[in-house]
Amino acid sequence: MKDVLLTAMPHDIGPAERLAATMKTTLAPIQVDVFPDQEVRVRATQSAPKTILYCSLDHPNAKLIKLILAASALRDLRAEKIILVAPYLCYMRQDKAFHKGEAISQQVIAKVLSPWIDHIITIEPHLHRVKNLNAVFPNIKATSLSASTLLASLIDKDGAKENALLVGPDQEARAWTKAVAEKAQIPYIVLTKERLGDRDVRVSLPAGTDLQGKRIYLIDDIVSSGSTLAASARLLKHHSAARIEALSVHALCSDEDLEMIMTAGVSRLRSTDTITHKTNAVSIAPLLSEALFRELSL
Ligand code: R5P
Repeated sequence: MKDVLLTAMPHDIGPAERLAATMKTTLAPIQVDVFPDQEVRVRATQSAPKTILYCSLDHPNAKLIKLILAASALRDLRAEKIILVAPYLCYMRQDKAFHKGEAISQQVIAKVLSPWIDHIITIEPHLHRVKNLNAVFPNIKATSLSASTLLASLIDKDGAKENALLVGPDQEARAWTKAVAEKAQIPYIVLTKERLGDRDVRVSLPAGTDLQGKRIYLIDDIVSSGSTLAASARLLKHHSAARIEALSVHALCSDEDLEMIMTAGVSRLRSTDTITHKTNAVSIAPLLSEALFRELSL
């Protein structure tokens, strides 16, 4: 690809290699050295007029600094246009000051990133009160991709769909639960969720729901502490669901939290590889590649 280069931060070499293979392009890793005092030295070895920088932003605090230094280094070479591919975009949930004095992290992070890049591409960012990603990044191009086809493909893979039921954990998830259900051609319901604390979640079923014999696919965009999935699984089990498994776009949970989800009654959790995680079951590379080819008009 003339005038286009794919680069990636060290923690994303695996998924970036899958993207490079799908796009049939080479990958130029960004080099990062960490000094004993935790400062970092970041070095770009190549750049091109259109440079793609792959950096998923889970566990984001240290990654954000490295990302900005990498974008700066790429500009100093000869990148005219930097497209940040951040399959998981951090800090999107704090979209207002829930308590007096809290920073509105979503807005702050967008302001920190925007001067360094020309375009951001992400997958299923968690947007609640904000209408779309353009409203979060008003000064640069912003593209939000849907993972609904990928999650539906995992359901399709299982074959027979008799008694299958897709369950979204909260009303916020209604639209994309519906999108996955329509693609997988199975019915869906949405629970009502109340969050009382980081790990204290209460969920309830719509009145009159009969789960007897149902094979449940629970979906959540982000699995963080796993409390939403665990509370939902306990409720569904209590109402005699025959089998419960879970699908997620972004799996952030620790091994301990994954164990807690399983103990609550989830037989398996499958996720996309927006974040490298032991539950990864489907690659986002084709989705990203299609969006990048469109953007680069190749
Ligand atoms: C929140 O509204 C999101 O859609 C997820 O349900 C939430 O982030 C999951 O968090 P946790 O796994 O900590 O319950």
